[in-house]
Amino acid sequence: MATAQSLLLDHCPPTLPAEAYYDARWYDREQRLIWQREWIYAGRLSDLPKGVMRPVTVGGAGVILCRSPEGDVTAYHNTCRHRGSELCRAEQPLGKMIRCPYHAWSYAAADGRLLSTAQATPTEDFDKTGHGLFPVAVTLWNGSVFLNVADAPKPFAPDLGLNAHDNWPMADLVTGHRLVRDLACNWKVFWENYNECLHCPGIHPELCDLVPVYREGIMSEPERPGWTPETPTGHALRDGAVTWTLDGQPCGPVFPDLTEAERKTAANFVTIYPTAFVVAHVDYARVVSLVPTGPETTRLTAEWLFAPATMAQDGFDPARVADFATIVLDQDAEAAEMNQRGIRSPRYASGRLMPQEFDIYRFHGWVLDRLKDN
Ligand code: FES
Ligand SMILES: [Fe+2]
Repeated sequence: MATAQSLLLDHCPPTLPAEAYYDARWYDREQRLIWQREWIYAGRLSDLPKGVMRPVTVGGAGVILCRSPEGDVTAYHNTCRHRGSELCRAEQPLGKMIRCPYHAWSYAAADGRLLSTAQATPTEDFDKTGHGLFPVAVTLWNGSVFLNVADAPKPFAPDLGLNAHDNWPMADLVTGHRLVRDLACNWKVFWENYNECLHCPGIHPELCDLVPVYREGIMSEPERPGWTPETPTGHALRDGAVTWTLDGQPCGPVFPDLTEAERKTAANFVTIYPTAFVVAHVDYARVVSLVPTGPETTRLTAEWLFAPATMAQDGFDPARVADFATIVLDQDAEAAEMNQRGIRSPRYASGRLMPQEFDIYRFHGWVLDRLKDN
């Protein structure tokens, strides 16, 4: 167990340099060394129907996400081995084959093998077996699909541990509400804001009302001066509240297998750099994912996940449940865009991190480690 001393930084390190947030070359390096090497969230499996292929983008690379009529998930780079045409332009039905819309070469959906060159009749020097689709690695975790376009992907390992949501029926949850926002900020600005609560008292009045410790500008009790592992932890929410909704009341049955600690925390986060975080509450969960769309633009998608029994309640309105986190998310979006505009000042070269910003410091280390690696 960490102590307050070990969480807080013992110095005030510099931030990343200003150009990390707008320079096109820096951005290209991140696309290559981070987004094209890490596992990237590609949506919930329950939102990908069987017998469908869908074009998606991973680190700027076009990818076809395929689900066979039997339910198997495969993925390939969206480029034909003949002369490179895009293979899939829009979501469409998928059977056993992927057929190029240009000159009709066809590939096996199950393994990408080249099956036919259609009207073209290659000579003997052409080896069909060496011209299959380029595969993209797929991982299914807790009902979510992750893709990795690296040649030799590292194992899937979210930063805060893979087992944090084991007591939730994550794979069975279905999407009840979705929100998409285009943010005028670099993707790292979003993560930095996620990683500290110094902004909470000023930016999030509703959230601070629900989670009293946030009023102190800290994320959890262990950051309090004088905290020791023996200090008893209380419920994270204001009296009477059990979950992150406007009235603090659950939107359906509470998940039955949660520990007392998980219920008291009320919000259990798994962080999956650089692509998403998943937060599980006692009655529902939420995935917030990012796609950089340019050095200074980021598309954010938030999905609210519910048990089928919760969705089936009479008059249940998932959009109402989403109201609370949407307020918080809008406040964070506004803060992130304000941060980005200020970073653009010609006088801003870099800033300083405060001791409470230990998670931003770790995030910067994570980014710099990957950019070092050639
Ligand atoms: S580019 Fe695909 S068949 Fe020609
Ligand atoms: Fe925030």
